[in-house]
Amino acid sequence: MIYLDNAATTFPKPECVYSTMDKFLREKCANPGRAGHRMSVEAEQEIEKARVTVGKFLGVKHPERMIFTFNATDALNMGIKGLLCDGDHVITSKLEHNSVSRPLAGLEKQRVITVTRVANSDDGFINAEDIRNAIKSNTKLIICTHASNVLGTIQPIREIGGLAREKGILFMVDAAQTTGVCDIDVEEQYIDMLAFTGHKGPFGPPGSGGLYVGENVKLQAWREGGTGFEPESLSQPDTLPFKLESGTPNSVGIVGLRTGIEFCLKEGIDTIRAHERNLALRLVMAFETDDRFVIYGSRDENEKVGIVSLNIKGLNPNEVAAILDNRFNVAVRPGMHCAPHIHREIGTFPEGTLRISPGYFNTVNDIEETISGLKKIADTT
Ligand code: ALA
Repeated sequence: MIYLDNAATTFPKPECVYSTMDKFLREKCANPGRAGHRMSVEAEQEIEKARVTVGKFLGVKHPERMIFTFNATDALNMGIKGLLCDGDHVITSKLEHNSVSRPLAGLEKQRVITVTRVANSDDGFINAEDIRNAIKSNTKLIICTHASNVLGTIQPIREIGGLAREKGILFMVDAAQTTGVCDIDVEEQYIDMLAFTGHKGPFGPPGSGGLYVGENVKLQAWREGGTGFEPESLSQPDTLPFKLESGTPNSVGIVGLRTGIEFCLKEGIDTIRAHERNLALRLVMAFETDDRFVIYGSRDENEKVGIVSLNIKGLNPNEVAAILDNRFNVAVRPGMHCAPHIHREIGTFPEGTLRISPGYFNTVNDIEETISGLKKIADTT
């Protein structure tokens, strides 16, 4: 199979991720921090080592502010619902995935918050000035994606973060599409909360991820329970990371996430991104001069992660994806990509687009075969 759905989940994982997780499960998978026996202590040490590695990778100064979650959605819910209160105003964009849009829309529907969704440019970028113009006296949070999961366009988060900091507003970033392929430094980019998942760019397993909680942020815990810390108290501890990490953690996933990030560091995220960008560029070059195809968003791969969204004129992307899968053995993601606002903006609602997302382990040959398959499908229209 030619797997080109890396924006959903990277596949395969580096060999070191498989072997480290296998070894951890066999040798160290006791309940961390809950008992004093050796295996429990070792499990906890592995997790704390991961907290330091992951935190450092994202520019986090205090590792205890790096909270492990089950994915980016979990982290976003933890941040959004833990922060927002009655009467708050939030600024977000129309590029967001439902993991941001739905929690906000839910709170809006309950009349807890109000939300302004700024539009993006035709090629898929948020303008920080539009955010500045949307600020109100009760704006508590600005939240946006680092890169669109539909168009791949990388957003000016440092500029938006600088604006938020200047105005005393908290800034949260959904880094689901960029962790492991773009530079992220929560200090330099003025990020107060950063949500990411392990199963994409960091090459970790599904069920791993994290939330960075900055020093200016005080969250309510929306999941309470056992932490192994202050067990005598019936109140959720106020100390991080315990406050936000109740229940037995996905220790094997966290160890896999750490190993994936170590792989990113070893290979170099610039090398990983350059490879994905070059493969995406081949796709763009093959289709932009063929008027049977429409490509959405910017075509400048330097300002994107490795995502190309396109359609064959007159064909439903779901049907094209099924043909690619059945006849050409190519896996891509068609449809709405759980991001309905942007599909309305680019005129592809409700059918969506065909999203092709090459990864670090794809080859030029994978891309050439995909181009050939798509051109053959277009020939039939
Ligand atoms: N959020 C993932 C995607 O964009 C699943 O496909």
